[in-house]
Amino acid sequence: MKHSKYSVIIVGSGVAGLYAAIKLSESITLPDGILLVTKSQLSESNSRYAQGGIVGVLPENKKDSVSLHVADTLKAGCGLSDLNVVKFISENSKFAIQDLIEYGVNFDRNEKHELTFTLEGAHSVRRILHAGGDATGYSIEKALVEKVRNDESISRNISIYEQTHAVELLVDSKKQCRGIIAFNEVTKEYETIYAPAVILATGGTGQVYKYTTNPTVATGDGLALAIRAGAEIKDMEFIQFHPTALSIDNDDSRFLISESVRGEGAKLINKDGEYFMERYHEQKDLASRDIVTRSIYAEMKRTGTDKVHLDATLIPVETFKKRFPNIYSNCLKAGIDVTKDYIPVSPAAHYCMGGVKTSVDGHTSIKHLYAIGEVACTSLHGANRLASNSLLECLVTGYELVNTLSFCNLQNSEIIDDAVMTTIKKYTANEEDTRLEADMDDYITKIKDTMWQNVGIVRDETSLLTALSDINKIAAAFDLEKICSSAKEYEVRNLIYVAKCIINSALKRKTSIGAHYRSDSVEPQVDDTKNSENVKEQPNESKVTA
Ligand code: SIN
Repeated sequence: MKHSKYSVIIVGSGVAGLYAAIKLSESITLPDGILLVTKSQLSESNSRYAQGGIVGVLPENKKDSVSLHVADTLKAGCGLSDLNVVKFISENSKFAIQDLIEYGVNFDRNEKHELTFTLEGAHSVRRILHAGGDATGYSIEKALVEKVRNDESISRNISIYEQTHAVELLVDSKKQCRGIIAFNEVTKEYETIYAPAVILATGGTGQVYKYTTNPTVATGDGLALAIRAGAEIKDMEFIQFHPTALSIDNDDSRFLISESVRGEGAKLINKDGEYFMERYHEQKDLASRDIVTRSIYAEMKRTGTDKVHLDATLIPVETFKKRFPNIYSNCLKAGIDVTKDYIPVSPAAHYCMGGVKTSVDGHTSIKHLYAIGEVACTSLHGANRLASNSLLECLVTGYELVNTLSFCNLQNSEIIDDAVMTTIKKYTANEEDTRLEADMDDYITKIKDTMWQNVGIVRDETSLLTALSDINKIAAAFDLEKICSSAKEYEVRNLIYVAKCIINSALKRKTSIGAHYRSDSVEPQVDDTKNSENVKEQPNESKVTA
């Protein structure tokens, strides 16, 4: 097996990973350089598909302020967010946005060249920056990839491994992370890579569900690595189901219809032509995501349908085409002219509020292991993420992590202890893998189905136990400790860990709050509102009884 060493390994090439790589390269002298490992192409990630935008609490936006943004975030998160984290991220948004602009992200502007802000659910003011209309994630990712690849002052410190999976964390007997085992999908070779700092930036877990807005890469890989390594995990019961994913008959894919379409005036409508959100919540179509999603769920049940519609004809045609060019063309491909037709939509798994428990600078419970972005849980989002806070979190936490690392000794140690050697030996054992490719497809389908059916928008103890039993059967047939021989097998392994983790967390929290809605909910916990001092009214008092 090949061995190598770097000063920092970053796993994942979404906005969090790329931005951290750039910041590291800009600001720290690294004796052994940075390794950026991605299981796909450098430019592929969940971030790339973010449409609506990124929160920017900017001084020029006179109607906005940090305290307003903090209040909105706490309220959407049902008081489970960490107030200090929320404040910190909000206060630093202006620096993060400034950085992106300097790196070449062209946020949309008006004819006076002023930045334009859009609105999304549960935001009290327009504060969301967007680029390319509805291609914000793509525009940010593109600018960062360009810098990592082609800006010589940055790229000279960064090595890139594409189509390479981090399949194990090397954790020594003192519970310190010492590197990773990587698996190259093309050559099928393993490599031991040592580093005094390993950063997980692997993104989300949407692929554990049958219906998701996430790309196929979102299989919770970093989360599974952290679970296997024994890191502390938090809040995994909180899965955000986006209310409006394009829902076409006989097509399981779910293209995102950005919340900002509702921000610009579109309204949800049921099969009887009624704008039904008025019946569910005073904020109507722009209530927080968990509320709109449960309202749609209830409305679908009530009317016996598997979708509702979005009336975007309320937005002037030219405005729609300019603001949402990708949504416009994707709908057209599906035979829907959004300027005339209602868009068929239903909720789909979109974002994981939980993850590897971290501080705001990415520290996990394992020394020298860090996590940033969707894989991490800083407690910014609490029980329900406020739209467009996530890209901002990727940047601010990445920046803070790099600051922290600038005070660390980033020299590789020469001493490799027994625990690490045992892990390495496992991957050099050449044991025979008897798993069948066809079984992998079957496992994936079963995992996605049971998670959607039993651990979805509404769950209860019975459904959760059913899902747990299904996943345990798959885990036993798969054999989690046996080495894998393909990328797909590793993804199945990771999905099993992620599914179990979500189910077990959902079983533990017996009370409905935010995105975790249990139809057998017991009374609200007093603790759930301990951080919501800015929240005037009881949050999330939805009339939905799904
Ligand atoms: C959207 O555009 O609706 C998604 C934005 C987000 O998830 O923050």
